[in-house]
Amino acid sequence: MIRPAELIQRKRDGEELESEQVAELVLAYARGEVPDYQLAAFLMAVYFQGLSSAETFALTDAMVRSGETIDLGAALGRRVVDKHSTGGVGDKTTLAVGPIVAACGVPFGKMSGRGLGHTGGTLDKLESIPGYRVELTTEELVAQVQATGLAIVGQTANLVPADKKLYALRDVTATVDNVSLIAASIMSKKIAAGADAIVLDVKVGDGAFMKTLPDAQVLAETMIALGERAERDVVCVLTGMDQPLGCAVGNALEVREAVATLRGEGPPDFTELVLDACAHLLALSDLGVDRAEGRRLAEQAVADGSAVAAYERWVRAQGGDPDEDALPKAPFIREVFASHDGYVGRLAALAVGLAALHLGAGRREKDDPVDHAVGVVCRKKRGDSVVEGEPLAEIHARDEQSATEAAEEVLAAYELSDEPPRPRPIVLETIG
Ligand code: URA
Repeated sequence: MIRPAELIQRKRDGEELESEQVAELVLAYARGEVPDYQLAAFLMAVYFQGLSSAETFALTDAMVRSGETIDLGAALGRRVVDKHSTGGVGDKTTLAVGPIVAACGVPFGKMSGRGLGHTGGTLDKLESIPGYRVELTTEELVAQVQATGLAIVGQTANLVPADKKLYALRDVTATVDNVSLIAASIMSKKIAAGADAIVLDVKVGDGAFMKTLPDAQVLAETMIALGERAERDVVCVLTGMDQPLGCAVGNALEVREAVATLRGEGPPDFTELVLDACAHLLALSDLGVDRAEGRRLAEQAVADGSAVAAYERWVRAQGGDPDEDALPKAPFIREVFASHDGYVGRLAALAVGLAALHLGAGRREKDDPVDHAVGVVCRKKRGDSVVEGEPLAEIHARDEQSATEAAEEVLAAYELSDEPPRPRPIVLETIG
């Protein structure tokens, strides 16, 4: 029997706990045998004292064991690859990566989440497609991946229930942004969902959990170590989140941009990130290709139309209408103009994400409804030259008042400079 108060005290005082003690505490909490107030105190002790690598693995492993696990690889008879992003503004990468990887002959069955706060969630973006069903049973998921090569669904209720409970508690106790807790949360879900190899997109910048490159490197190394202990291959790409990814921020707007990217007409930063992630995923798959060949295959799938065809097949199979004209449109579109000539020196991701949230594209509370039509399109990005009066961005809003308010927020997100800023690649570093 564990005594939670004793474990809280020992962690508060900086001691390392036995793996069994960490596991029993988390599993007892998931079973409802330890109250929220004790776990909250434990999380705060972890926030200040950290977890050793053995404790972090014990936490991850216990979370995996708290619910069902899925062996997609055995069901498909293939090596299964998966991707995950730590979350950012305008991050629609999965919507483009899935069809490209499927078009290259690698099965892609992915569980995604909803957005909270200024970062969007893949499920919310997918729900802007009329008819798209995010809730498939595990059997339906497997059958669809077998038939069409691709399915993207919501996490089943019983996958890592300990993380659901812990995440909700972290969200209201200021204990989300701790490297060990983030790494355990992300990796437990990826391990339970059955991937053999995982590409993790670790976002770095003002719109991300990790504000600096050294912090992102620590998170990446922690997740790679957890993957190794669970016998999974993990590659981390550390990517910039100082400005929104691509141009579109908001659910239906992002779906349109992802489809444009599948046609080869996407924004350069987003296209580069998508092709880089596909190259890693194909190199980790059972195709037997290296990264350079993976990149070539991904580029070819875009160029020959097979990526768009895979998108249409997948969306139809999941009950949705892949026609872009079926996506919802906002009734008010307002442009934001440059006040003088210059270059975009800065475009604050967090401020644009918050403007989209205030328009209704995201949720402040877990059960808030989402307006799929609204959002922001950044027509100018960092490094672009602008002349006075030229449009910097478009606001897509439900009404005039919210358009006016968002226009002010987006204008404040832009900093114009006389000199062009130093170019910054989207992929900052690759680890693993
Ligand atoms: N994403 C997750 O799934 N968990 C975290 O703790 C942070 C980001």
